[in-house]
Amino acid sequence: MNGTAPRAVRLTGWGRYAPAQVLTNADLERMVDTSDEWIVSRTGIRERRVAGAHETTASMAAVAALRAIRTAGLEADDIDLIILATLTPDYWMPSTAALVKEAIGNTRAAAFDIAAACSGFVYGYATASAYIAAGMARHAVVIGAELLTRFLDYSDRSTCILFGDGAGAVVLSASDEETSTVGIELTTEPQGAYMIWLPAGGSKSPPSAETIARGEHKIRMEGRETYRFATRTLASTALAAVAKAGWQPEDVDLFVPHQANIRIIEAVAKGLDLPMSKMFVNLDRYGNTSAASVPIALAEAVNEGRVAIGDKLVFVAFGAGFTSGAVAMEWTADPELGRMGDAAVRPEDVTVRLPVDWDSVDPIPPALAEVLARPLPGHLDLSDVVPGEPEHVHRPR
Ligand code: ACO
Repeated sequence: MNGTAPRAVRLTGWGRYAPAQVLTNADLERMVDTSDEWIVSRTGIRERRVAGAHETTASMAAVAALRAIRTAGLEADDIDLIILATLTPDYWMPSTAALVKEAIGNTRAAAFDIAAACSGFVYGYATASAYIAAGMARHAVVIGAELLTRFLDYSDRSTCILFGDGAGAVVLSASDEETSTVGIELTTEPQGAYMIWLPAGGSKSPPSAETIARGEHKIRMEGRETYRFATRTLASTALAAVAKAGWQPEDVDLFVPHQANIRIIEAVAKGLDLPMSKMFVNLDRYGNTSAASVPIALAEAVNEGRVAIGDKLVFVAFGAGFTSGAVAMEWTADPELGRMGDAAVRPEDVTVRLPVDWDSVDPIPPALAEVLARPLPGHLDLSDVVPGEPEHVHRPR
C-alpha cells in the first residue's frame, strides 16, 4: 500500500452480480405454511435469487468486484485494498476477500473481511474511505456479498421467506478534486445481539453432531424486535449522516436503503417526511441480501438512470449486532459507465481456485434442492438481463 498525503475520496466504480436461479413466493408455498399474499403484504418481496451449487460468496463477489473495477476504467492490479463484508464467508479461514483477490487477478492489494451483518457494506465503505483519506490506499474495492440461502431453516416460515443471494461492489479512489463522501455515521447497539443471530459454529458453540441436530447453524430472528430497531435506527442514522454533510433530508435526491422490508422503508420515508419516490426499492426481486443489499441497489439505481452527476445520495443500512450505518455522498461519476462495466465481465470467465484433492459435500439444503428441481422453464423473460450475466430465468408458477 502507498504511504501518501491525505486525499479526497471519490466513488469511481460500481457493479453487481445476482445468480440466475429464482425462488418465487409460490415456491416457498410448497415448502412452508405461507402464501404469496402474506409475503407480499408483510414484506414486499416477490422473489429472490439462489446461488447454484457451483457458486460461492467469493465467486459472486469476484464478478461484482471486477464489474466495479471495469466501470471505474481500472485494471484489477490498480486496486491496493479489498474489503469484503459478509456474514456468509466461503470458509472461516481464509478470508473470502483473499479468495476474491486471487480470482480477480490482483497481485498488490491488502484484502480482508469485515463482519457487521447487513450494515457490513456501509462499514466497509467507511473503512475504505478512511484508508484512502489517510493516504494508505489509492483505489479500494468494497464488496458486499452473501450466500444466505444455505443458512436458512426451511421449516421456519418467519425467516426463510426473507433472504436471497447476490453481490455488489464499489471502487473508491483517491482524487485531486473535492471529496464526494461528505457524511458518515456508524452505530452498534449490542443489546440487540441475540435478536438476529446464528447460534453455533463459532468458539462459543463449535460445530458438533448435537449443534446440527438442534438446528443451530441456521439464522434465527426475533422479527418484531428487529423491525422496531430497524424503523427507529434507519431514520436516525440517515439523519445523522445528512446532518454531518450539512444537508437537510429534503436536499437528498435518492436514499438507497437496506432492502429488508418495504414496510420498514415506508416507515423511514414517513419518519423523514419524504415521498417514496426518493427511496430506491428493488427488494421485490431480490429479498434481503444482507451486506449485498445496498451495493446491488446502488448499482441498479445508477444503471436504471435514477442518478445523475451532482445528485446527493444517502446509503443506509441496519443489521444484526444491532448495527447501522449511513453514508451521505455526492455522485460524481458518469452513470453510463455502469452498463459497460457489467458487459465487460462474464461470470463464466471468473474462477475461484479450489483446494487440491478436496471434495466438499453438496452445499444446497435438501428442502431447497427439492423445490428447485422442477421442469424446465416454459419461456425465458430476458427483460432484466444484464449483458454478460447468465440468463435470468423466470419459471412458470
Ligand atoms: N407466512 C404466513 N404467516 C406468517 C409467516 C409467513 N411467512 N411468518 C410469520 N407468520 C405469522 C406469525 O406466525 C404470526 O402468526 P400468529 O399471529 O398466529 O402468531 C403472524 O404471521 C404475525 O407475525 P409477526 O412476526 O408479528 O409478523 P410481522 O408483521 O412482524 O412480519 C417480519 C414478520 C416480516 C419478519 C417482520 O417482523 C420483519 O420484517 N422484521 C424485520 C426483519 C428484518 O429486517 N431482518 C433483517 C435483519 S438484517 C440482518 O442483519 C440479516
